[in-house]
Amino acid sequence: MLSKEQILELLQPLQEPQLGVSLTELEWVRDIMVKENHVALTIVTLENRPEDTTALSDAARNLLSQHGLKDVHIRVRAASEHDRESLNMGQPDEEQDRDEVLVKGHAAGLDGHELLSPESGVRFIAVASGKGGVGKSTVTVNLAAALARQGKKVGLIDADIYGFSVPDMMGIEEYPVVEDGVIQPVERFGVKVMSMGFFIRENNPVIWRGPMLGRMLRQFFTDVQWGELDYMLLDLPPGTGDVALDVHQMLPQSKEIIVTTPHATAAFVAARAGAMAIQTDHELLGVVENMAYYECGSCGEKDYVFGRGGGGRLAESLHTSLLAQIPLGTPDNHPSEPDFSPSVYKADTRIGAIYDEVARSIDTNY
Ligand SMILES: Nc1ncnc2c1ncn2[C@@H]1O[C@H](COP(=O)(O)OP(=O)(O)OP(=O)(O)O)[C@@H](O)[C@H]1O
Ligand SMILES: [Mg+2]
Repeated sequence: MLSKEQILELLQPLQEPQLGVSLTELEWVRDIMVKENHVALTIVTLENRPEDTTALSDAARNLLSQHGLKDVHIRVRAASEHDRESLNMGQPDEEQDRDEVLVKGHAAGLDGHELLSPESGVRFIAVASGKGGVGKSTVTVNLAAALARQGKKVGLIDADIYGFSVPDMMGIEEYPVVEDGVIQPVERFGVKVMSMGFFIRENNPVIWRGPMLGRMLRQFFTDVQWGELDYMLLDLPPGTGDVALDVHQMLPQSKEIIVTTPHATAAFVAARAGAMAIQTDHELLGVVENMAYYECGSCGEKDYVFGRGGGGRLAESLHTSLLAQIPLGTPDNHPSEPDFSPSVYKADTRIGAIYDEVARSIDTNY
């Protein structure tokens, strides 16, 4: 006869359908009774949707039957208020505060699920790359700012949970306001922003287990009052690892931009990110070649310091278009200005104008 612990072990792969987190880890597999070969148990889910109920019972039955347990009785019920609040139990203390903020939002019953549903009408754009440091975050924040300049309602999720950088890059110094347990995103350059950086004190590194990560990210969609949006941009973590894959799968409706440098190897690695987008059924909007060249300020001559042609070849091999070639250059604004940001190029600059063009082309072709 199996013990309760063994049953829980067997059911470990079961995930809460909306949170993407193991149900046993959430302690949402309950009331386990084992009597000889008969097992009865309760599964708690966020919402008791009929399709989830059937899928979960079938999956649980299947897992148990592989170990000879055929006589299985499963109840599925919706999470109570208390269950929802207990979502943040069992974590180290320093994680409590920010989780509390996030989980409270959930209890407030926001319409975040609708944001994630394909009917929301929000155009999702995930910005990906094969490797780090090619300018994904720079491209994301500037494209977001350019879309906002064109009157679009834009949200930006810094989905690089471990390596968040968006608040700093945009020069954001405020924190999100929490009113009645509802999180208001911070607005900068007309873009509504949510980042893990808002919930981390003193730039401590984030060390989380996989399930926590998925939960956090999901709450960025479900517990934040985004209001009406035309676009939601996501700055993905670099590479094609688990985290990036999770994000891809969480957003089946998203389209994607791949960022690369002109260097041949960078473009080769970026091709993997492109392949991943295609595997996860994400339509590619195109490739942005960043750090494409250095333009001499006095003579206007272009120097292709990182090589040439990587972006074009990548776009070709992925059967998509090269959206832009963005030269090297730092925004030349000053920390004393109220709209200072280290990484956002203003509209009236050469690079700002390139982003405006990309934004227009995306808005036309999405
Ligand atoms: N066109 C550019 N000209 C000059 N510097 C740039 C350009 N694009 C990006 N950078 C700089 O290069 C660095 C890496 O850019 P960014 O952080 O956007 O890359 P990333 O792909 O998001 O990196 P990570 O993988 O670490 O998230 C930053 O310091 C950024 O300011
Ligand atoms: Mg980044």
